[in-house]
Amino acid sequence: MKLKNFMLRVETEKLVDLSLDIIKTLGKSEIRIIDLGTGSLCIPLSIAAEYKGDAVLKIYAVDFSDGALEIAKENLAKYSKLKPSIQIIKSSWFDSLDSKLKSTFDLVISNPPYLDKDVSLSRSVSEFEPHIALFSEDKGSFDTNLIINEAKSWMTAGGTLIIETDPVIALKVLAECEKNGYKEIELIRDQFGEVRFLKATA
Ligand SMILES: C[S@@+](CC[C@H](N)C(=O)[O-])C[C@H]1O[C@@H](n2cnc3c(N)ncnc32)[C@H](O)[C@@H]1O
Repeated sequence: MKLKNFMLRVETEKLVDLSLDIIKTLGKSEIRIIDLGTGSLCIPLSIAAEYKGDAVLKIYAVDFSDGALEIAKENLAKYSKLKPSIQIIKSSWFDSLDSKLKSTFDLVISNPPYLDKDVSLSRSVSEFEPHIALFSEDKGSFDTNLIINEAKSWMTAGGTLIIETDPVIALKVLAECEKNGYKEIELIRDQFGEVRFLKATA
């Protein structure tokens, strides 16, 4: 089922497809997923709408911005008939999550802010997107590194991390995963041929 009137960047559609491919291979009756920096809830809702399997999906959707959380809640109410359970949580990345959730996520997904604040963007993007959604310190890699450093302890053994990134910092992101002992680390190109995603297992 395609969601009506729902904005999903073309690149982020690929993040949804990569996630669905992983979910299909898991062969579990219950699959736990977390989306970090969920924004409008577009990734969880798209996964929930497009998933065709029999497993019970439990999706946790995290954001720190009150504005984003308000939109996420409105969208969840709009699509309340979707089967998988989606829980919205206010947290800065993993900071406010219940520690009982440690080691339980089969899939960690994130499209975090990853742009260097000195990068020039078209006015349509920089004026209408909140800066918390776009820019990150350390030339764009600060939030991505925080997620990579923390995610492993929240993942099941063999769980998968998929993170969207900027081609400019992709090799640094890969090195951060290697430093943190992830396995099967892979850079994946988007529909425009740019290195855009990193996939790794815990
Ligand atoms: C690039 S947007 C992605 C939104 C949506 N997931 C998508 O793919 O369209 C990044 C999101 O990360 C959120 N964010 C930024 N800093 C955060 C933090 N410290 N903890 C949680 N979320 C954060 C922003 O509010 C924003 O919703």
